[in-house]
Amino acid sequence: MAICSQLKSAEAMQQIVSRLHCLLSYGILSSTTTMEPIRIGSLTCQPLHPTFVAEITGVDFSKPIPDDQICDIIAAQDRFGVTVYRNTSLDDQRHIALSRQLGKLEQVPKFNGPKVPDRFGFPELFDAGNTDREGKIIQKDSRRWWYNKGNTLWHTDSSFNQHRSKYSLLLAHQIPNEGGDTEFADMRNAYRAFPEVRKRQLRGLIAEHDLWHSRKLAAPQEYSAVTDFERAAKPSAYHKLVQIASDGGETLYVAAHASRILGKPEQEGLRLIGELIEDCTQAGWTHAVKWKQVGDLVIWDNRIVMHRGRPFSDQMEVRDMRRTTVFDDGPGSLGAV
Ligand code: OGA
Ligand code: MN
Repeated sequence: MAICSQLKSAEAMQQIVSRLHCLLSYGILSSTTTMEPIRIGSLTCQPLHPTFVAEITGVDFSKPIPDDQICDIIAAQDRFGVTVYRNTSLDDQRHIALSRQLGKLEQVPKFNGPKVPDRFGFPELFDAGNTDREGKIIQKDSRRWWYNKGNTLWHTDSSFNQHRSKYSLLLAHQIPNEGGDTEFADMRNAYRAFPEVRKRQLRGLIAEHDLWHSRKLAAPQEYSAVTDFERAAKPSAYHKLVQIASDGGETLYVAAHASRILGKPEQEGLRLIGELIEDCTQAGWTHAVKWKQVGDLVIWDNRIVMHRGRPFSDQMEVRDMRRTTVFDDGPGSLGAV
């Protein structure tokens, strides 16, 4: 057992060292505050915010992406946390193929019951849109409508899984005329700006993450009773609050799914979780990405940013968004137990 955990941490350390080498070789280790475009290998990155988020050009999505360029994409991801690729023309299959080049993909959980068919023929595609299988708008007050409300809270994808996720790749298939931005918060740099005394209080703490907690927060009446099927389909997971990011420094891993801090009374834990989310989502640490056209793709690193969907006229307009989710393979991927 001891040997096993030593091996695991040696492997994790090796991953950090090789990632640092990679970032150093690109000359992009420091988080610069310039808004000037920077080059990362074959990519041009136009920052959209002083500390994170960039719009990237230089990728030809009409062909399979060469491995060298995947390396550049990952380096841009490590530097910016959130990357925006406009007008990619990707379809479902190529969206999935690109995602596979970034790691092993999650299969979408079937919280509505094993027999309810998906809208797409691909188990890797998560439906983040507001239509049903027939393309009709999901009715206000239905369970699925309330479920989607949870995505409007600041969260990070799949933190309720013991094997957490690394990247989410969200692709626009139909966008509303107004609203429906996706907003991001830079947890890595927000945390790094905390005073040392606060960081010391957070290191070593473990949070429980429960999908049904965030559903209840967003829809207290609808999710006051979680069904036995739902609870069995998604039990809680446990993750350290302070984690090591891919650049070797610390970051904060907290989200709307966080329901408890181990070893603290429930209300005290919830208060701490609420304060952390609030402090990291102050205006200086957030950026709302506008979806400009079908084919726009946003990739984010769930380990260093939070996100939330912004409102739009969801009973009047269709917003068809599809997501793949890549398993984390770095240190902390399997959480704390
Ligand atoms: C998601 C998500 C928000 C949005 O796909 O994980 O939270 O703006 N989406 O669609
Ligand atoms: Mn999400």
